[in-house]
Amino acid sequence: MMPTATHNKLSFIADELQALKDQHLYQSLVTVQGPQGPEITLDGRTVLNFSANNYLGLCTHPALKEAAIKATEKYGVGAGAVRTIIGTLDIHQELEIALAKFKHCEATMVFQSGFTANAGAINSLLNEEDYTLSDSLNHASIIDAVRLNKAKKGVYLHSDMADLEAKLKDAQGFRHRLVVTDGVFSMDGDVAKLPDIADLCDQYNALLMVDDAHGSGVFGEHGEGTVAHFGLCDRVDLVVGTLSKALGSMGGYVASTQAMRDLMVNRARPLLFSTPHPPSVAASALAAVNLLITDNSLVKQLWDNRNYFKAEMKRLGYTITSDSPILPVIVGESERAQLLSKRLLDEGVFARAIVFPTVAKDKARVRLMMSAAFTREQLDRGLAAFAKLGKELSLV
Ligand SMILES: Cc1ncc(COP(=O)(O)O)c(C=O)c1O
Repeated sequence: MMPTATHNKLSFIADELQALKDQHLYQSLVTVQGPQGPEITLDGRTVLNFSANNYLGLCTHPALKEAAIKATEKYGVGAGAVRTIIGTLDIHQELEIALAKFKHCEATMVFQSGFTANAGAINSLLNEEDYTLSDSLNHASIIDAVRLNKAKKGVYLHSDMADLEAKLKDAQGFRHRLVVTDGVFSMDGDVAKLPDIADLCDQYNALLMVDDAHGSGVFGEHGEGTVAHFGLCDRVDLVVGTLSKALGSMGGYVASTQAMRDLMVNRARPLLFSTPHPPSVAASALAAVNLLITDNSLVKQLWDNRNYFKAEMKRLGYTITSDSPILPVIVGESERAQLLSKRLLDEGVFARAIVFPTVAKDKARVRLMMSAAFTREQLDRGLAAFAKLGKELSLV
């Protein structure tokens, strides 16, 4: 019989959960009844959704759904093996070729998620003779990818170029130095100083890797990402992207050279030891990439919505410093963030509180995610809730 909640060896878990509750850090899952969109159904009630990474509204786009259905009919539901044995289907390869065109690079390799793409890239590239230098606010998937690798680990202060330079100077004795940064920082929505970072990497002969999970589909004329936005495609060695945010389905990829792709085929543990996407996922991701290459109207709509909403929040008295469609309302203590989130839900707005360990203990927030899918009327309804709660909770 499986252990139960009262199983005596596991009883310590109840104490750990209680400790999280006492610190207002306890999270439980919210279940969406039906599709992901600007409005969702929670407990039978329709509410506005300001927490999804569905930047372009592609989670429910008809062309992506049709591609998934057709691929299921053509191929079935599974890849059948890991990529490096016999699990590479032509639809996986088609997606990789389209992504290379989209990211203006020689070759890409798709992984099951952005999380595993970071792990696969770093694990393929570096060993104990090398050095990684990571921004202090990088995403957890980079932190874990670095932890899993044997290279020596350094962290530079968030977007602090003087600190990065000092640490690069100290690291000259290593075989390779890899600087790794988010393109858009996922909790604050600020953009990395990529031109300065690229200059330092050239000056100190370091490799540069950008995790553009929140930049892809968002920055650049057609959503090519922050690297293209800054004109740095030929100066960034590896770009990681995700298919699970703006691109609407799931998966991650590493965009780089053909040689880097070949290296990952030989070394990236998530490719060697875990089964890839089913054909339906590869097909919907391919449809998303093709849509972005040919049509940038959703990217434009996303920015229109974001600029309107941010300006109106400012007019209401909220301070939001962000360069992107990630708009954090930072309130400080986690209890306050949980209260704001709860009161927003009472007003028909879902916006998840983000607390430690996702952000620092004194920087709890409600993080608002913009989407091209919002209508102006929906944005105004969200703003009305913030207008009411700003005064009630003394936020403005
Ligand atoms: C910067 C960054 N990198 C990677 C990931 C992981 O992406 P995925 O959800 O595709 O695993 C995320 C997701 O939150 C992210 O914000």
